[in-house]
Amino acid sequence: MYYDPEKNDHGLPHDPFKSCVVPRPIGWISTISSGGIHNLAPYSQFQNLTFDPPYVMFAANQNTRGIRKDTVVNVEQTAEFVYNMPTYDLREAVTRSAAGVPPEVDEFDLAGVTKVPSVRVKPCRVAESPVQFECRHHSTLRLPGNGLMGTVDVIIGRVVMIHIRDDVIGPDGHIDILRIRPLARLGYYEYTSVESLFEMVIPASNEALLAGLEGKHNR
Ligand SMILES: Cc1cc2nc3c(=O)[nH]c(=O)nc-3n(C[C@H](O)[C@H](O)[C@H](O)COP(=O)(O)O)c2cc1C
Repeated sequence: MYYDPEKNDHGLPHDPFKSCVVPRPIGWISTISSGGIHNLAPYSQFQNLTFDPPYVMFAANQNTRGIRKDTVVNVEQTAEFVYNMPTYDLREAVTRSAAGVPPEVDEFDLAGVTKVPSVRVKPCRVAESPVQFECRHHSTLRLPGNGLMGTVDVIIGRVVMIHIRDDVIGPDGHIDILRIRPLARLGYYEYTSVESLFEMVIPASNEALLAGLEGKHNR
């Protein structure tokens, strides 16, 4: 089958689009308002963009009333945010933090997670999360969309501090992904978590390329 997303004439009971780009890592994004209220929300339209220096992005649609989400307002006002890696064990807290609540609500409290101060930015980190990036706002790309929710703010941030919990670094010096079980989003109400992995080395003779893929890159 094929369909035109402008007409959305897929003929299925639910829109299949979000199930076609999976699994999506979830950026559990913490921010602070200019008035000092802590905010936390999951964004599965999230990715790293590059690694030297590292940049990440997340894309926040407008809310059901056609208004920018609190996370976006906070980043625009304070120019800082934190990426927290969500895990399978934190899945219920992640869901709680997605509730559409007024900006006065502290969403760390709502989610039932612990604040830990950041080193370089004001927004707190989620103590229970094994990996966190402190980020400074680089730019916002606003893409026009249909309806109240279609317009989206793509927020790009430069990573200025990286935290990795010691107990998720294995004896080989790699991050122990199977221990962390990072949570990821599929379509509909479906999620997955990373439960298996395998290794493959690409057939390349270019040492620099291989070193980059392996994570051994030098400047
Ligand atoms: C797993 C998950 C992923 C989500 N991903 C996105 C996303 O990529 N973009 C978006 O606009 N909303 C996303 N949402 C919805 C927001 O988390 C939700 O609108 C939240 O209330 C926004 O909070 P804020 O207003 O405090 O920023 C997601 C929700 C869940 C549960």
